[in-house]
Amino acid sequence: MNVDKGYVDAPIDPKLDLRSEILRLKQERNAVIMAHYYQRPEIQELADHIGDSLALAQLAAKTDADVIVLCGVHFMGETAKILCPDKTVIVPDLSAGCSLADSCPADEFEAYVKAHPGHTVVSYVNTSAAVKAVTDVVVTSSNAKQIVESLPEDEPIIFGPDRNLGNYINSITGRKMLLWDGACHVHEQFSVQKLMDLRKQHPEAKVLVHPECPKPIRLVADKVGSTQALLNFAVADVAHEFIVCTESGILFQMQRQCPDKTFIPAPPEDGTCACNECNYMKLITLEKLYNSLLYMQPTIEVDKDIAERAVRPIERMLDISRQLGIIK
Ligand code: 13P
Ligand code: SF4
Repeated sequence: MNVDKGYVDAPIDPKLDLRSEILRLKQERNAVIMAHYYQRPEIQELADHIGDSLALAQLAAKTDADVIVLCGVHFMGETAKILCPDKTVIVPDLSAGCSLADSCPADEFEAYVKAHPGHTVVSYVNTSAAVKAVTDVVVTSSNAKQIVESLPEDEPIIFGPDRNLGNYINSITGRKMLLWDGACHVHEQFSVQKLMDLRKQHPEAKVLVHPECPKPIRLVADKVGSTQALLNFAVADVAHEFIVCTESGILFQMQRQCPDKTFIPAPPEDGTCACNECNYMKLITLEKLYNSLLYMQPTIEVDKDIAERAVRPIERMLDISRQLGIIK
């Protein structure tokens, strides 16, 4: 089967009920469907598990399914494959990349690490397997603060690749980590001016901000946190209105869990769109998911040597997160 475009481009009978066919194939293959919070609503509705990057890694490590279909971006599929080398891991469109991971080419990062001997290397999960292979401990936005704080106070640290998350962690921990100069095009795009205007229109609304956003946006926040932390905050908080500065896919879950509250996506700097979408996340469609289960392609493969080195910092992250009670 040809997957030159990154996905199985085979014709689908328009009379098929895609949802029930996907569920049937899932049973037949003993597959589990995992979806990140930024996925399209129809994908989140079909998934067995929906979560942030940390939850998806943890779920992949624990599943007893034979096949993991990861509806997310490439590095998430890689993480699952590294943790479960004997399972088939499918990402329905392999061209679902990540601008943040792309902002950190492995050869350049390795050279940077070599140029700073004696540093512990902390990498955000939004990186390629090759970057993880030269990393001491992986973090996600759900555990970065606690994992950095678990390292000795005087330990020199390199943090990559997100400069905004790195800056944020430096500011709340008092550490002086060296930062790789990378960023996510979605979280960098929010407009401070448009956010201020929205606040004037909705003075009661609380502002929820992902730490991949730059400092001027974070300064306006009532809550800075990972996708899961922002969702938890929205569920627990007394406010009825929230302005959300992260990828707009999370609004589907927020609205689902808080049907009586109002969620307003913060707008980007450019364009006419009223929300901020990750074009990579939205590449996963029901059609691609169906074909991927039917043809069992495209699969994620990771070079054995790289996988053997990359698994250590990922498992270290999961171990520390368990010890600190962040995950079970
Ligand atoms: P979390 O899922 O860890 O909040 O990260 C956000 C993100 O950008 C994932 O690509
Ligand atoms: Fe990568 Fe940003 Fe898209 Fe997340 S939202 S997958 S960090 S490009």
